[in-house]
Amino acid sequence: MTTDQRVGQSGSGPGEITPDGSPVELYVRTQEQTRGEDEVIAAAIAPGSSILELGCGTGRITRPLVALGHQVVAVDESPAMTARITEAETVVSTIEELRLGRRFDVVLMMSFLVNVPDDEVRRRLLDTCAEHVKPEGMVILQQQDRQAFAQNAVRENEHRRIEISDVEQLPEGKQSATLTYTVAGETWSQRVVVQNLSEQQLTTALETSGLHLDGYLTPDHTWIRAKPLERR
Ligand SMILES: C[S@@+](CC[C@H](N)C(=O)[O-])C[C@H]1O[C@@H](n2cnc3c(N)ncnc32)[C@H](O)[C@@H]1O
Repeated sequence: MTTDQRVGQSGSGPGEITPDGSPVELYVRTQEQTRGEDEVIAAAIAPGSSILELGCGTGRITRPLVALGHQVVAVDESPAMTARITEAETVVSTIEELRLGRRFDVVLMMSFLVNVPDDEVRRRLLDTCAEHVKPEGMVILQQQDRQAFAQNAVRENEHRRIEISDVEQLPEGKQSATLTYTVAGETWSQRVVVQNLSEQQLTTALETSGLHLDGYLTPDHTWIRAKPLERR
């Protein structure tokens, strides 16, 4: 089953597919599997933080953050995704349109959403981050590692197989690829287009939304810490 897709993104396979091409059932089947994301985030934030998680999916990272004692509000445009989360407050909304009238210690937007291949959509996503972070708070973003789509590849562990195929290097730092996931004998495909950002492009995008690049949480620079500009 497919729904109206975001530009450049598409997905197919059993169950519902979100507008960005994410297969809900794939995320349901893998929702207990973290790859250290929760540890990166937890190491960067204060105990008992209020967290606004944008693009939460089925709560794969929401749950460990709640278990650590953080208060998480989890947002996704897909009600089929948020329906799986019982451990935290959930909001069904596009990130672009979200205006809760509340501010949080931490705004978290992972899963490479900042790499959306449309500058205007990226600006709106970052505006929402800026709108919901406390003046003394931080925004945590996860960006694409451009090496991930350098070439076709297969990544496999005991839980799932991911085949990266049809990789294309596009103008202006964009890349596209087809990701084919196999989990417990079921297969889903997702076509993605990402816009890689140079540090200068990232800095400019953040500043346009009233944020500044404060540093990186990991040596590979895929995890970004940004803060409100006034705090500089
Ligand atoms: C790749 S999934 C990752 C989910 C979760 N962050 C994780 O790592 O398990 C991306 C999620 O972001 C949501 N999403 C993507 N773009 C969005 C937008 N502009 N507004 C709201 N949700 C969005 C999708 O519906 C999907 O659930």
